[in-house]
Amino acid sequence: MAAVDIRPAQRDGPALEAITDAVAMVNILRGMATSETTAFDAESRFDSDKDKSAFRKYDEACDRVKGFYAEQHAKQTVAHNLAARQRFYSPTRKRPEMTVWEAIEKLNALIDNSDPDTELSQIHHLLQSAEAIRRDGKPRWMQLVGLIHDLGKLMLFFDGCAEGQWEVVGDTFPVGCQFDERCIYPETFKANPDSSHEVYGTRYGIYQPGCGINNLMMCWGHDEYLYLVIKDQSTLPPEALAMVRFHSFYPWHREGAYMDFMAEGDEALLHAVRAFNPYDLYSKSDEVPKVEELKPYYLELIDEFFPQKVIKW
Ligand SMILES: [Fe+2]
Ligand SMILES: [Fe+2]
Repeated sequence: MAAVDIRPAQRDGPALEAITDAVAMVNILRGMATSETTAFDAESRFDSDKDKSAFRKYDEACDRVKGFYAEQHAKQTVAHNLAARQRFYSPTRKRPEMTVWEAIEKLNALIDNSDPDTELSQIHHLLQSAEAIRRDGKPRWMQLVGLIHDLGKLMLFFDGCAEGQWEVVGDTFPVGCQFDERCIYPETFKANPDSSHEVYGTRYGIYQPGCGINNLMMCWGHDEYLYLVIKDQSTLPPEALAMVRFHSFYPWHREGAYMDFMAEGDEALLHAVRAFNPYDLYSKSDEVPKVEELKPYYLELIDEFFPQKVIKW
């Protein structure tokens, strides 16, 4: 069995958040560019100072994001993903134990407390997503997804879960089959040894068409990590698990790649993931939520779907 110890992660919360924000900004702008009302079609949109600075920010985000993806795309191999799962399930890994609310507070402290410039704290992003879903009258389980969907980022701070940012954030994709051209910066996959592998480099690789989206081995990141944590420890429905597991799977839920792998029933999951996306991407500009006022409501909501309260991370 492979050794469980890995190099200590670069446990820099603010740096993780900076790359997360840049990734989100690129996703927002890519979404605008591909939608009917393109953001880039009229010069006049960038006339004001605010727009110019937004555009500069986008440029900077692109540079930063490109460097990030170059590393993620080169290192997310089948071998790496098998090893990451083996570490996650290893009987010698000491799994931290805490409630969901404690996890929210921990993430907040680890990522934000040392960074006065963070625009919005983790707890605010999670509560804003949840509150937007609640305001729209969506089911309680979906509100809970809003509240927890990024808690997998804690993996950066837990022993044996992640080596660096490239294993935590960024758009996700399956390994074990050809990397789709619709992934962001697809040319950077050339540095991944799997792209020229005799099996992994083929269109379907280790899979069969129609094998089911849940049977793909998704690259290691905060989506997959949280999915593994909650799938056996919550009573959340399959749509909720899909929202958690695939919320960064933009090549699938936005670009329409990897559709050949879908099986009967997966349409409903895709529909769910797409329904969740705006609450993740666009709720950041909403009013700052009052944490202490909202806490009792969400504590009850957590208890409803996490019956054993303290869970293993
Ligand atoms: Fe996320
Ligand atoms: Fe998020």
